[in-house]
Amino acid sequence: MSSQLTITSKSTLPSGYEMPVLGYGVYQTPYDVCYRHVDSARVYRNEQPCAEAIKASGLKREDIFFTSKIGPRDMGYEKTKKAIQASFAETGLGYVDLFLIHAPYGGREARQGTWRALVEAQNDGLIRSIGVSNYGVHHLNELKQYIETSDIGGKIAVGQWEIHPWLPRPDIVQWARENDVVVQAWSPLVRAEQPNESILGQLGKKHNKSWAQVLIRWSLQKGYVPLPKSVTPARIEENANVFDFELDEEDMKSLHFPDSYQPCSWDPTTSSD
Ligand SMILES: NC(=O)c1ccc[n+]([C@@H]2O[C@H](COP(=O)([O-])OP(=O)(O)OC[C@H]3O[C@@H](n4cnc5c(N)ncnc54)[C@H](OP(=O)(O)O)[C@@H]3O)[C@@H](O)[C@H]2O)c1
Repeated sequence: MSSQLTITSKSTLPSGYEMPVLGYGVYQTPYDVCYRHVDSARVYRNEQPCAEAIKASGLKREDIFFTSKIGPRDMGYEKTKKAIQASFAETGLGYVDLFLIHAPYGGREARQGTWRALVEAQNDGLIRSIGVSNYGVHHLNELKQYIETSDIGGKIAVGQWEIHPWLPRPDIVQWARENDVVVQAWSPLVRAEQPNESILGQLGKKHNKSWAQVLIRWSLQKGYVPLPKSVTPARIEENANVFDFELDEEDMKSLHFPDSYQPCSWDPTTSSD
């Protein structure tokens, strides 16, 4: 139940490991900011500083959830194996909690090769859970079929997509629900492009919260794992302070735009290579 969500709430993944329900994105976050649930990627070029920050935080490794992603240039079995090796060499981490395929680029063979390399790294104990990002329903079905018909196996634990009220992606969310895939929401704050949207102002006023807190709460109550990004300490704190209020049914309805499709960034879900 959403009302029982707290800052320490976790979602259990098929691997048996747990993931905090609120994470922090570190895209364009190049320095020593550290959170308990960190969303990084090879292409952000900040895995290494993230790992340094994890070590410097004094927290136990098991109290941090660290995600990275295989970038579009590293698609394919051999390249992905090398990318994973490079990631571990750079970070010095003993394991990564979650590795995602950043985008479904490169064609079917490359996507499947990347998946195989991730499954092998998971079997080797280097990666605890694996998943995809920016996969459209057609890519998801392709991967599902590959998992079911090859002897490679693996389980899509997490999917990460741009999701917010103006890009709710009902088809993808439904697929994820039906296949027990935990949904992470990137750009949950719509990159701060709509702070003056009147409905956000109204809801913020009603609950004495900021527009950003309203959007993070919307995401959590939809059952997603939002990944807001901020390099501003006061905002980082603000974005975590979302567990003392609840949007009611009417509030949620007022943010329900099922036909809206307004990406604020790249949208690889529609690619067809
Ligand atoms: N898988 C993918 O393809 C993909 C793509 C894009 C993003 N992501 C992940 O998702 C994370 C978040 O997405 P995003 O960075 O694109 O967008 P976002 O989190 O929706 O928005 C970030 C922007 O909002 C501002 N902001 C944050 N908190 C605020 C607050 N409380 N009040 C006012 N402004 C606030 C930030 O400013 P300041 O930083 O200046 O405070 C920044 O400009 C990324 O860091 C990354 O980890 C994944």
